[in-house]
Amino acid sequence: MAEIIDGKAIAEKVREDARIRADELKRKGIIPCLAVILAGEDPASLSYVTGKEKALAEAGMESRDLRLSESVSEAELLSLISTLNADPKVHGILVQLPLPRHIDSDRIITAIDPAKDVDGFHPVSVGNLVLGKKGFIPCTPNGVVFLLKEMKIKTSGAHAVILGRSSIVGKPLANLLIQKGINATVTICHTGTPDFSIYTRQADILIAAAGSPGLVKGNMIKPGAAVIDVGVNRVADAAKKSGFRLRGDVDFESACETAGWITPVPGGVGPMTIAMLMLNVVEAASK
Ligand code: GUN
Repeated sequence: MAEIIDGKAIAEKVREDARIRADELKRKGIIPCLAVILAGEDPASLSYVTGKEKALAEAGMESRDLRLSESVSEAELLSLISTLNADPKVHGILVQLPLPRHIDSDRIITAIDPAKDVDGFHPVSVGNLVLGKKGFIPCTPNGVVFLLKEMKIKTSGAHAVILGRSSIVGKPLANLLIQKGINATVTICHTGTPDFSIYTRQADILIAAAGSPGLVKGNMIKPGAAVIDVGVNRVADAAKKSGFRLRGDVDFESACETAGWITPVPGGVGPMTIAMLMLNVVEAASK
């Protein structure tokens, strides 16, 4: 049976570290502050944003909640970002994705000052990551690597297989895992891969970030592999008050039979995303 990786407990330690660093900054008169922009009322996005703001408050940091209507124009958003870029009290700017369809997300993200890009989505941050230079690293991939290190899972020489090629998880994670010091060999599978199980069965480390509930079954996993489930899918569940429950991209029951380690959903990667964001905000404030 797989060892279950307690992302919640590991994230708590990281958040405590962020709180201590935020306290040090406050003693110097700097209160780390993140501006959080949410356009529209997507329930999942609203829940993520609330979680981030709660974590900031618990770490003794400030947040500016900027809730905009679904119909906000691109020009209004660009103007808001320009104001926040110029505000010395704001150290980080986070635009919750996805944005409403009429807005060009790339244009919005590119407008953020790279020094305040705590999500690590700006092309300058992406470039730094690809080049192996210092810069903000996207929170979810950074959290995944932190979990692997914390659990002492061998990455050097390991074959890491990633399911999903998103700019938020798959692509930055592949770039992190091939860096010197981490040294994994990486395969990325995506919707154009005819039979991804050929690759997943060879993975020492399998990272599922495809956005498809229960996609990965136990028989697609190499015995003893580390399985990191990035999927956060809302599936209908009449027994729940909310009417849904969260399910990962991995079929947890069958995967536990084959994997060596596994992250649960919820309580695995999700809390790490928030914890790494706290560190990026402290980092932005200390510059
Ligand atoms: N939407 C899904 N994940 C993320 C994230 O890490 N940051 C932002 N800004 N939006 C997201």
